[in-house]
Amino acid sequence: MTDQATPAGLAGLSAIVTGGAKGIGLGIARSLAEAGCRLALWDIDGDALEAAAEELRAGGADVSARRVSVTSMEEVQAAAAEFLARNGRIDVLVNNAGIGGDKLVTKMALDFWQRVIQTNLTSQFICCKAVLPAMLEQKFGRIVNLSSRAWLGNRGQASYSASKGGVVSFTRSLALEFARSGITANAIAPGIVETPLFGTLAPEVRQDLQRTVPMQRIGQAEDVANAVRFFASPASGYVTGQVLYVCGGRSLSSASV
Ligand SMILES: NC(=O)c1ccc[n+]([C@@H]2O[C@H](COP(=O)([O-])OP(=O)(O)OC[C@H]3O[C@@H](n4cnc5c(N)ncnc54)[C@H](O)[C@@H]3O)[C@@H](O)[C@H]2O)c1
Repeated sequence: MTDQATPAGLAGLSAIVTGGAKGIGLGIARSLAEAGCRLALWDIDGDALEAAAEELRAGGADVSARRVSVTSMEEVQAAAAEFLARNGRIDVLVNNAGIGGDKLVTKMALDFWQRVIQTNLTSQFICCKAVLPAMLEQKFGRIVNLSSRAWLGNRGQASYSASKGGVVSFTRSLALEFARSGITANAIAPGIVETPLFGTLAPEVRQDLQRTVPMQRIGQAEDVANAVRFFASPASGYVTGQVLYVCGGRSLSSASV
């Protein structure tokens, strides 16, 4: 049974995708636009942002694009207020923006650690703070947080793993805090996903990575976007605090396949 505050489907929902200018975020934006969502893309890469918004608008989508750093409470609050004024509601927040962080602990400076935690984890707190008042008012909201399979632990990725593990704990706590408010919070943990950066790897490095995936293929942004669509949908209303791996089976074993 659904209550009156629950929208019927994805079409017409107002959705924010952080880091939506490229990579997985753009894949998510394409997918939500195709489903009929009204979109806000927040990113620090102004050129990529404009190109993404133009592409989506050409396909008929209602898109606002804003240069925002998700690490700035001030910028995020202003962007959320603008999106709310434009659409009257904020239904979906996809906390996708993030950066990598490959460094051994012994070689890691404190500011490197802090930048990764700030961009990947604190940003999700900041964006949630900005949209939760609207979601609480509506008695409806869908928060989808990008974690990573790396949250399980990765040698040479302590800051990145810790940030993505923090995302899991944060998501579970959000789920409990808002369980009675019509707001769900879930996390997605992708494995290896093809992004522009991946294309710069040498063919043999790509092949080696591919061999570690039980399905023997590298994930695509669409694979992640399909999972986001489920968590963003009103139909997933009884699912909260979960981590969904989108990794071709890579999370199932500690051994390389
Ligand atoms: N690609 C993978 O294999 C993979 C695997 C697991 C998890 N992830 C996660 O998926 C998400 C997207 O990754 P991606 O591979 O598409 O990365 P990407 O670098 O291709 O895209 C990230 C986007 O976030 C934006 N961004 C970075 N810092 C920002 C900030 N402070 N404010 C606003 N925007 C900012 C960038 O400009 C970029 O457009 C990240 O959270 C990443 O950790 C990726």
